Amino acid sequence: MSVVKSGVLALAMLASAPVFAAVTINIDPAKPGPVINKYVYGQFAEHLGTGVYEGMYVGAKSNIPNTRGWRNDVVGALKQLHVPLVRWPGGCFADVYHWRDGIGPQDQRPSNVNGGNVDAINAVGTHEFFDLIDMLGADAYVNGNVGTGSVQEMSDWVEYMTADGGSPLARLRAQNGRDKPWKVAFFGIGNELWGCGGNVKPEYYANLYRNYENFLRAPGQSKPKMIASGGSGFDTTWTDVLSKELKGRTAGISVHQYTVPTGNWEVKGEALGFKEAEWISTLANTMKMDQLINDHGAVLDKHDPEKKIGLMVDEWGTWYEEKGARSALFQQNSLRDALVAALNFNIFHQHAERVTLTTIAQMVNVLQAMILTEKEKMVLTPTYYTFQMYVPFQDAKSLPLTIKDNTSYTLGATTIAGVSATAARAKDGKLYLALVNTDPHQPVDVAVDVAGTKVKGAAGNVLTAAAMDAHNSFQNPQAIKPAAFSARAAGGKLSIKVPAKAVMVVALEE
Ligand code: AHR
Repeated sequence: MSVVKSGVLALAMLASAPVFAAVTINIDPAKPGPVINKYVYGQFAEHLGTGVYEGMYVGAKSNIPNTRGWRNDVVGALKQLHVPLVRWPGGCFADVYHWRDGIGPQDQRPSNVNGGNVDAINAVGTHEFFDLIDMLGADAYVNGNVGTGSVQEMSDWVEYMTADGGSPLARLRAQNGRDKPWKVAFFGIGNELWGCGGNVKPEYYANLYRNYENFLRAPGQSKPKMIASGGSGFDTTWTDVLSKELKGRTAGISVHQYTVPTGNWEVKGEALGFKEAEWISTLANTMKMDQLINDHGAVLDKHDPEKKIGLMVDEWGTWYEEKGARSALFQQNSLRDALVAALNFNIFHQHAERVTLTTIAQMVNVLQAMILTEKEKMVLTPTYYTFQMYVPFQDAKSLPLTIKDNTSYTLGATTIAGVSATAARAKDGKLYLALVNTDPHQPVDVAVDVAGTKVKGAAGNVLTAAAMDAHNSFQNPQAIKPAAFSARAAGGKLSIKVPAKAVMVVALEE
């Protein structure tokens, strides 16, 4: 064979062989960054659709096995996630919720209209919520009512929850079965004041906040950290006004950012059966979280360079077409959602100093949920598994990481990074690395280099599937779940092959 001919053949072979690019990740464990606050892994449980009733709370007399009304299967599964924080009772619902309707004997409580027009019986009130919190070992983020409430009502609620005796409201709490005060880690003063929570201007809300906050009294150490309700999306006006006006009075300013596949709220895109164009657009849209945090962070840096005010992303996640949903905002959850969650975590970790709390919307049966239920049946979603795989990152020390020669994934006019990664030193002393491969077709080889150490291997879990919309259903609840993964270093070098469309979390053997 002539040299020219063999050259042509070699080229032809190269062209037809799959090309697995080698990406290099460098981690420097000697220069730890800020701690990734465990509250970044918070959850949101709103009285909306079947998010609380049915999904979590079925009542003590239900045939579904429960503990004081809370489903044993759901609580058991949530415990595996080490849920650090639960935001409750809303959302928009918080601004129509009157806490006194939810105390005292359950059969004497008035009914109410739950978000999504469900007639709610107020069976889940303050005492029941804290029962759930205790069972989960989580902290409480209670959201108060500014929209249709009053300063007096909110002040009384905080007193009811936190007073340690000697007050009429502490005595009322004791009469209702709880002697000791509860710990309210965070208290939100209103929700989405720009919309469902009041439709007001940020300057007006800043004054309202000061007025409400002034009367939210709790004994000494028990005072909750107060959260101001901020804006939505990329508009930083609310963050600007509130950080100027509320400095020293607030632990954080919230921002809400949902991922809509099409970017168009009128035609959002389906949860399942979508085309590749909506795979890439969803991931591209969700990765805008980085820009959003940079934008709000820059405004906060101006007024709060000491970083005392947290940016609390207390509603985030996917929001799909809701037509025909079996209850309000109920949506299926696929491998794509697992990647959305992981990409957001990787971004939150990069901003660990400013982003100290987030609560995904929502916990069960609503939007990007961990768990879906139908009567006695329960399924764990791919998002659940991402949260489970990322547990070691709670309160871990972030580590600086660079990605060299990253791949990119392109479809049509959209190009996104192929690999997203994050690393941290966890409380168990191990170095954890999380990797996301956004490309739905090509696996990627990732060379891992840890400064000052020869890594011997990696072990953990990987979540992937054949279909982009792989999901667990009530008929097939085990269709997608993580698989064990391990890799050994060869010749002193560790290379990890991350499958196409995958989330992976491994502990490195140093
Ligand atoms: O999470 C669903 C709703 O979305 C919340 O009630 C509201 O705050 C937001 O607009």
